[in-house]
Amino acid sequence: MVTLEEVKLTAKNNMSICKMCRVCNGETCRGWTPGPGGKGSGSSFVRNVAMLKQVTLNMRVLRQDAEVDSSFDFFATKLSAPIMAAPIANVKINYGSSVDEKSYLNALGHGCKQVGLLAFLGDGANREAFEMPLNLHKELFESTVMTIKPWLLDQVFSKMSEVKECQPKAIAMDVDAAGLILLKQMGVPAAYKTVEDLKKIKDFAQVPLIVKGVMTLEDAQAALDANVDAIVVSNHGGRVLDDCASTVEVLEEIAVFVNKRCKVYVDGGFRSGADVFKALALGADAVLIGRPFSHMAIGGLQEGVAMYANKLIEEFRECMRMTGCITLEDIRRNCVNVNF
Ligand SMILES: Cc1cc2nc3c(=O)[nH]c(=O)nc-3n(C[C@H](O)[C@H](O)[C@H](O)COP(=O)(O)O)c2cc1C
Repeated sequence: MVTLEEVKLTAKNNMSICKMCRVCNGETCRGWTPGPGGKGSGSSFVRNVAMLKQVTLNMRVLRQDAEVDSSFDFFATKLSAPIMAAPIANVKINYGSSVDEKSYLNALGHGCKQVGLLAFLGDGANREAFEMPLNLHKELFESTVMTIKPWLLDQVFSKMSEVKECQPKAIAMDVDAAGLILLKQMGVPAAYKTVEDLKKIKDFAQVPLIVKGVMTLEDAQAALDANVDAIVVSNHGGRVLDDCASTVEVLEEIAVFVNKRCKVYVDGGFRSGADVFKALALGADAVLIGRPFSHMAIGGLQEGVAMYANKLIEEFRECMRMTGCITLEDIRRNCVNVNF
């Protein structure tokens, strides 16, 4: 049985670009896009991680003794906790990974399924970059969600038709991918989407639509106008706009504004179960975690992913216990302090 530290060491050896830092906080890889880092000065990635540390938990132990229930409902699929792996594509180009994309995706999907979590899968410019995650989605079905890039509408519909054949629980779209350097370099820039476009995509999907990449009230309103089912408060891990606000800074305001009219998920810099707890206290329904999951897949395949996922779930449950929260509904704003 390997340890988490051993998996991290193997990950380091299996990657020629990512340095596998002690804390994955965007400092070393500032500006490494393509690569694992944040765009430009890299400050958006760094800020995502740093601002989360400005949120602290309120301990509460004088309460009834009861076991916590961290289970989470994802569009009628029960997960062990409100934690999901974020879509991360192209591990060869971005990490210099010696583990190939197919093995990496398999590890991510099967590792999450093993512990009752769910993995979002990415999409790419060429046929193979779409087909590989799609095949895994066919195999693992409700333990995975396909994330289609915001291509021109004809291509979106064509890809969605193939995803719909899997009778998915939901389909996601990373609408912020219009800012991705790699896609621009490949000559296949993703397109910005209007409310009308989103409405057409939502109509076509016929399953819950998750819009990933909302950072403002204006974009949250646009997503609501299109009747989407969930938004992900996300700046793509700091990879699409330099000097962007961190996701935890805008989360509460967006969640209050949305007021349960759709689900609110968040990602960017979340590393521990405590970080997940903070997001829920600030109004999120669930959290996506990106880079650490891909490190674990590259370093320890399915076992590495499951090990990290179990650690996250246990840390999250420990935070629930120590703050007097028995169910997810008990995790409220008064469980945390925001020091920014
Ligand atoms: C190397 C890399 C590749 C990514 N590829 C995708 C992708 O294909 N689709 C997508 O929606 N997001 C993609 N993302 C963004 C992640 O889904 C997520 O928003 C971000 O990584 C969350 O921040 P974290 O890594 O700090 O947890 C990628 C991020 C990285 C670092």
